[in-house]
Amino acid sequence: MEKYVINGGKVLDGEVTISGAKNAAVAIIPAVILCDEPCRIENIPNISDVSLIGRILQQLGAEVKRIDKSTLYIDPRMINSHVATTDLVRGMRASYYLLGALLGRYNKAKVALPGGCNFCARPIDQHLKGFAALGARHELVNGAIIDVKADSRLQGNSVYLDMVSVGATMNIMLAAVKAEGLTVIENAAKEPHIVDLANFLNSMGAQIRGAGTDVIKIRGVDYLHGVTYSIIPDQIEAGTYMCAAAATRGRVLVKNITPKHLDSITAKLREIGCEIKEYDEAILVDATKKPLTRCNIKTMPHPGFPTDCQPQFTTLLATVNGTSIVNENVWETRYQYVSELTLMGAHISVEGRLAIIEGGSKLKGAPVKATDLRAGAALVIAGLCADGVTEVGSIQYIERGYENITEKLRALGADIKKVYKDESSDNVLRA
Ligand code: EPZ
Repeated sequence: MEKYVINGGKVLDGEVTISGAKNAAVAIIPAVILCDEPCRIENIPNISDVSLIGRILQQLGAEVKRIDKSTLYIDPRMINSHVATTDLVRGMRASYYLLGALLGRYNKAKVALPGGCNFCARPIDQHLKGFAALGARHELVNGAIIDVKADSRLQGNSVYLDMVSVGATMNIMLAAVKAEGLTVIENAAKEPHIVDLANFLNSMGAQIRGAGTDVIKIRGVDYLHGVTYSIIPDQIEAGTYMCAAAATRGRVLVKNITPKHLDSITAKLREIGCEIKEYDEAILVDATKKPLTRCNIKTMPHPGFPTDCQPQFTTLLATVNGTSIVNENVWETRYQYVSELTLMGAHISVEGRLAIIEGGSKLKGAPVKATDLRAGAALVIAGLCADGVTEVGSIQYIERGYENITEKLRALGADIKKVYKDESSDNVLRA
C-alpha cells in the first residue's frame, strides 16, 4: 500500500545519473551459474528485480553478497540444484533466464514459469525451439513448470528465430556457451543488453561472435573463469528521464549513459522540437527553446524505437499540440495505462496496435494505478506535467526497474514523494 504523490507542474532542470541496465542485470546475474569461479558484477541497479534474482541464486546454493550499493559478489560453486520452482521464481518475469543458465550447466533445468504478464502474454516457444535444437526436450508440468533435459552434453546447432526475441536470443546463448561445438543463432535480437551479456560471457572465456548483429555464433567451451564486470547503463531508464524532461518542458543532462543506445529516442525528441546535445557519456535534453510538435512512432526491435519507452513517449505526445499516432509493433497489447491517462484528461484512443493521440490538452492530477513497470513510469511523467496532485498506486511495478526514482526526480526539481498507507484506515502513516 505505497504510492507516489506528485504535485505537478514543476519544470525539470538539472542532472540525473542513470543506473545499470535492468534487462542486462537480470540475464547477467543468472549467467554466473555457468561460471566455474566467483564473479564480481558492478554497476548493478538497486531495484527489486535484482534483489529477487539474487535471492533466487541463493536458494539454488550460490553465495551472493552485496559488496556496496551497486556491486554484487556471486560465488556459484556451491550451486547444487537444477530446480528453481519456488514462489520467488514465479514472481520474477525474467526467471526464464534460469532455464538457459541451468541447462547450460547441468544439461537439465526445471524452472517455474512466471504468472501471466500484466500487459501481454509472454510466450517462450522460441526459447524452447532453441533448446530443442541443442538436443534438449521439454515438458510442461502442471501447466506451471518447464522441465527441460538432454540425455548428454548439449550439441551446438543452428537456430533460426521465427521472430526477433531478446529473451530467446539470450537464453539460447546461455545454453550454448558450454555446449559441444558451434551454435548459430539467426534472426537474433540486437539490443544493447544482448551485446552486454555476450561481453560478460566472453570476458569469462566464452567464444561468442556477432552479438549486436542478427547472426550470433557461439563455440562451446569447457570452463568459464571468474571476472569483475561492469553492466552497461540502462537505456530505458535514460529514455524515461529524457521523456520526462521534454514533457515538463525542462532541461536535463542525462549522465552515465551510452548515447548510441538512445539514437532512436534522440531522433524522435529532435523531431518534436527538443534541442539535444550529445556528449561521450551524457545527453542534454532541452525543451525550453521552442514549442514541441506532434510525431508518429512505431516500436521495433533494436535499433528501432524501443517498446519499453512507448508508454513514456505516448504520455509526452499527449502534452504537445497535434495528432500523433503510435504503432506498438512488438507486443500485441501495451496500452493498459491509456485508460489511466484518460482519467487525467488525455485524449487517446486505442485501436488494436495503434494509439491515436489528440495532444495538447492540459493534464489534471488524479488517483491512478500503475499496471506494469513502464506504464507506471508513464503515469509518473503524466503526474509531473499535470495541474494539481496525482497519486500513483501499485508502485511495486515501478520499483522493479527504476532505482531511487523519487530521489532522482526531486533532485531535478519535481515535487514527488513516496507515502506509505495503512491499508485498513487509508491513513497516510509516514512520508
Ligand atoms: C524483453 O522481454 C524485455 N524484458 C522487455 O522489457 C521488452 O519489452 C522486450 O524484451 C522487447 O524489447 C527483459 O529483458 C527482461 P521478446 P522478452 O522475447 O525477452 C514474441 C521491461 O519493461 N515472442 O523480445 O520477453 C513476444 O510475444 C520489459 O523492461 C514469441 O512469440 O521479449 C513479443 O511479441 C517488459 N515467442 C516479441 O516476440 C517467444 O518465444 C518480443 O518478445 C518469445 C517472444
